[in-house]
Amino acid sequence: MATVEPGIARHYDISGLEQRILAALADTGVEIAHLRAGDLEAVDEFHIGGVAATKALIDQMRLKPGAELLDIGSGVGGPARFVANSAGADVTGIDLTQSYVDIATSLSKRTGLAGKTRFVQGSALDMPFKDASFDAAVILHVGMNLPDKAKLMSETARVLKPGGVFAVYDVMRLKAGALTYPLPWATDETMSFVATPDDYRSAATNAGFSVTAERPRGAFAIEFFATIRARMAAAQAEGRKPPPGVGLVMGENARTKIANLTAALEGGILAPVELILRLG
Ligand SMILES: C[S@@+](CC[C@H](N)C(=O)[O-])C[C@H]1O[C@@H](n2cnc3c(N)ncnc32)[C@H](O)[C@@H]1O
Repeated sequence: MATVEPGIARHYDISGLEQRILAALADTGVEIAHLRAGDLEAVDEFHIGGVAATKALIDQMRLKPGAELLDIGSGVGGPARFVANSAGADVTGIDLTQSYVDIATSLSKRTGLAGKTRFVQGSALDMPFKDASFDAAVILHVGMNLPDKAKLMSETARVLKPGGVFAVYDVMRLKAGALTYPLPWATDETMSFVATPDDYRSAATNAGFSVTAERPRGAFAIEFFATIRARMAAAQAEGRKPPPGVGLVMGENARTKIANLTAALEGGILAPVELILRLG
């Protein structure tokens, strides 16, 4: 299992990413010396639907201010900063990719959120946290890299307090059909472990969760990428640079990754799905 992890971390590791993010924002007139978390939202939410998707998920959790929230696979920290800011949660992010942990830490410092967010390197399948450490947990677009959903669920159940909510927003398989790589989460099929909502539900219930809500977000996802395409086309037509977006964190072949994902979404093979789980 752990043998796939170094390759997955290399897939995500992009050289000079923080400087690229800051340069792209500076280009649009953002004052980097006075960066606010909101300035980053076009580029630090590495999942379909950006900050709107994060908000839609978090709103279902009814977090109390000061809640201890775990963000599993926290990327460069956009969702963690959003929840710290909007819900007043104290967020711990864990991520496999060391450079993302470093960037997330640095961006939180730059945006004045170092006291409300912290990021550690580690695997979702073997988390370095004590039992019952957190009030709630989220995972956004990470399960596609996890070969063992049962372990994800049992590890999350272990670190949550009784009654804790676990909000999942992952790309799942809705029907059979071939996938074309690269995808945003995988260079090739050796690092992709997309599962069905059924797989998630049964892993969750076996770990002691009950499912309190479930919502497929396929139409929302297709609309999200259509809006991005329209923005790019408008910029090109007007001879402007396209505005920075989620493609920035996907590296050089971002367009191919997005095109392959869009084809699978439009074919109804894949869709992001929200699952709200409660422990006990
Ligand atoms: C598509 S990004 C999503 C990042 C973040 N959740 C967000 O929505 O902005 C997937 C993230 O999962 C992380 N990841 C992949 N496998 C992991 C594992 N076994 N444990 C922890 N993080 C993992 C990657 O390093 C990457 O940051």
